[in-house]
Amino acid sequence: MTKSARRLGILLSGRGSNFWAIHESVQQGMLDAEIGCVISDKESAAGLALARNADYDALYLSPQGWDREAYDRRVVGELRNRNIALVCLAGFMRIITPYFVREFRHRILNIHPSLLPSFPGLDAQKKALDYGVKVTGCTVHFVDEGVDSGPIIVQAAVAVLMGDTVESLSARILQQEHILYSQAIGYALDGRCRVEGRRVLIANEAETDLSKT
Ligand code: GRF
Repeated sequence: MTKSARRLGILLSGRGSNFWAIHESVQQGMLDAEIGCVISDKESAAGLALARNADYDALYLSPQGWDREAYDRRVVGELRNRNIALVCLAGFMRIITPYFVREFRHRILNIHPSLLPSFPGLDAQKKALDYGVKVTGCTVHFVDEGVDSGPIIVQAAVAVLMGDTVESLSARILQQEHILYSQAIGYALDGRCRVEGRRVLIANEAETDLSKT
């Protein structure tokens, strides 16, 4: 497989810790991939600054004055110009349009801080805490036309502890996110994910379970 077939496009709007965890997985040789670009819809995103400081091809694409599909056409154009093989949403606070999903069908991943299908949408950790679940976690899934609804690639469970606050629970989930996202990206880049309806079948799943290293 050529290197360009392993080129990632990272889309973010905020702090960028998942982007940075992916960067570190690549640097440490745990993930065979190349970050081809980082795109943000927020000029002030800390993740965008991180990407610029690390000399990535980092773009701010302002959504102002663009309708949703026109914006996504720009994003898709930038991704195509850079031969991006896989798109990773990493705290990207926009719902992408069906056009974007079609252009990169089963080549867009998202990470979400709950065990989907529980608690989709914003404030997933708070919703889990308020609901009183004993176990929550995080999910990496393929993006489809819905919100946090696409086929699930991997999940990690996190226990809710007595005395947990949204902050403490979010921090423990985030630690798992940072492991899980690189694992899922590896599966996708290696062509090991077969989507059958809602199920994602992963060839030889035990072999590259980064959480067990
Ligand atoms: C993470 O909790 C992720 O699950 C959600 O948005 C947050 C992004 O955090 N989709 P960061 O910007 O990667 O630190």
